[in-house]
Amino acid sequence: MTIPFVDLKLQYRMLKPQMDVAISSVLERSAYIMGKEHNDFEQSFAAYIGARHCLGVSTGTDALELAIRACGIGPGDEVITAANTFIATTEAISCTGASIRLVEVDPRTYNMDPNQIESAITARTKALIPVHLYGQPADMNPIMDIAHKHGLKVIEDCAQAHGAKYHGQKAGTFGDAACFSFYPGKNLGAYGDGGAIVTNDDGIADRVKLLRNHGSSEKYVHEIEGYCRRLDNLQAAVLGVKLPYLDEWNAARRRAAALYDQLLAEVPDVVTPYVLPGVEPVYHLYVIQISNRDQVQTALKEQGVETGIHYPIPLHQQPAYKNLGYKPEDFPVSTMLGPRILSLPMFGGITEEQIRTVVAELSQALITLSGVATM
Ligand SMILES: Cc1ncc(COP(=O)(O)O)c(C=O)c1O
Repeated sequence: MTIPFVDLKLQYRMLKPQMDVAISSVLERSAYIMGKEHNDFEQSFAAYIGARHCLGVSTGTDALELAIRACGIGPGDEVITAANTFIATTEAISCTGASIRLVEVDPRTYNMDPNQIESAITARTKALIPVHLYGQPADMNPIMDIAHKHGLKVIEDCAQAHGAKYHGQKAGTFGDAACFSFYPGKNLGAYGDGGAIVTNDDGIADRVKLLRNHGSSEKYVHEIEGYCRRLDNLQAAVLGVKLPYLDEWNAARRRAAALYDQLLAEVPDVVTPYVLPGVEPVYHLYVIQISNRDQVQTALKEQGVETGIHYPIPLHQQPAYKNLGYKPEDFPVSTMLGPRILSLPMFGGITEEQIRTVVAELSQALITLSGVATM
């Protein structure tokens, strides 16, 4: 029996009747660009997050880039983010012409460590991008205090945190703008690429509307030079069908995480996810730390258990960022995590039996490998 890392077919089978109606309705009307589904989804997602505006865009990466641009940030400016994130966060900074400054992550949550931010701030720093990695909100109270003290914009990277809460407030409502990805495997995923910017700032919303659609709010009148970064209407229709189920799916992920926590407590030498007090994560990923990670991953694969690594090489050690001049010892926590973290199977419909099998196989692999190590 294979246990997939993510099972996207489960969701599709459950939603097929509604999905077929929604998709064929778009096709029958040939309403492919900026249609009714697009506008409806923007309204529903803004209401779900609790923000004034939602602007659909083509990807989560584009959402970040356009949000940074809409904050007026560009060449000569610096933007701070965490060393342990997906490269999309920093690619977006570079695309605007701004420079990347990395900060270390908290060794318990793997999110941006608020205590490390101030030493990275310079006269050129314009914004912070906290990433709510793996579905757990970053520690937003101290992050917002630092941003206010230094007059910095805050753009939340919510690509992995649809519906997550920090002291009762949804991730995506703390900063000046927040960016979501609807990549198929995300907690709210499209059937292709998609993304959104959520904001309470009318100016940022207006600017993003122009930037995503050739600088134009009236056809063939271009106030500025923009981009073609719209959310496609078919994807908006798919997202509109899925959004009402998001809380249910997130709750199922939390139940799955609780069972992993309980079973893994019995397995020696496994570090399970730490949840900050007052935080309600949505477990986009369930990430553990172990030694011999690569051998354990191979052993699990041989037993049919698929896992992932998010991310094996932290950004400061990526070949693409040699030019930043960072050394492994600049971010010892992120450097330590790279070879130790393993993401276990996690998705809305994962069964108790599947979770028990994953934990049994994991504990067997650890016992076998520790025997090999002591031989
Ligand atoms: C933390 C983070 N930021 C940004 C992105 C970019 O999203 P997309 O793939 O939709 O461009 C992702 C997607 O994987 C992500 O995980």
